[in-house]
Amino acid sequence: MNPEIKYFPDLESLSLAAARFIAQIAKKCAAEKGFFTLILSGGSTPRRLYERLSWPPFLPEMPWPQIHFFWGDERCVPPDHKDSNYGLAFLDLLSKIPLPEKNIHRIPVEKGPGPEVALDYEKEIRTFFHRSGVDRRPSSSIVEIKSIPAFDLILLGLGKDGHTASLFPGDPALKEEKHLTAYVPEPGQSPVVPRITMTLPLINQADQVLFLVSGAEKKEVIQSILHRPKSELDRYPAAQVHPKGMVRWFVC
Ligand code: 6PG
Repeated sequence: MNPEIKYFPDLESLSLAAARFIAQIAKKCAAEKGFFTLILSGGSTPRRLYERLSWPPFLPEMPWPQIHFFWGDERCVPPDHKDSNYGLAFLDLLSKIPLPEKNIHRIPVEKGPGPEVALDYEKEIRTFFHRSGVDRRPSSSIVEIKSIPAFDLILLGLGKDGHTASLFPGDPALKEEKHLTAYVPEPGQSPVVPRITMTLPLINQADQVLFLVSGAEKKEVIQSILHRPKSELDRYPAAQVHPKGMVRWFVC
């Protein structure tokens, strides 16, 4: 499906449109299958959106008990550190909404840094989808399941180098074909701390992907990703995002 691109005059209007979009899908999924799975992105752009979701009209109307929050990537810093993606989402949203603790599926970076944290999070994701009945195949070990779970909605950001989540140009994590998550010991951008990231196989299994992009310095890379021939795009990790479902770009 061709990506849908929407340009906004500022971060406020982009964040409100994103909140409305998420609310619509959340209510539909909760009504149809009893739960909604949302992967949050890190960085600064989504922070206004997270704040808006914690305000009316979204606060009273969202099906919070049926929403399960996961992270697309995390910096290997303590959860209360200023650079923690979980920490920012907790401050801006999760601490302000009526959400059961079990609905927060945080990346346990305090166990690392190391590849074992990525495997732990893969197990967390597979266990959730197994328990939620999405994947009913009996399996002695969750990780043996080869199928890739489909998240309802994945939020992604974009760096001016074309990175998304913690998938940086030229990083081996981009080549991962089997695992849902990967360890990134040397990220290509600050904060230069090891990262845990979801991989392209997981991203590309999603029903919906929403890129939230702000900053004039990213205009050129967006134009390249959206308009240049595929053959020239290998260097941009975000250009390799082709999910099963729809991709939307909200840009300001
Ligand atoms: C991270 C993010 C990263 C982010 C982009 C854009 O943890 O760093 O997941 O991929 O989305 O770097 O960041 P800004 O929104 O701050 O420009």
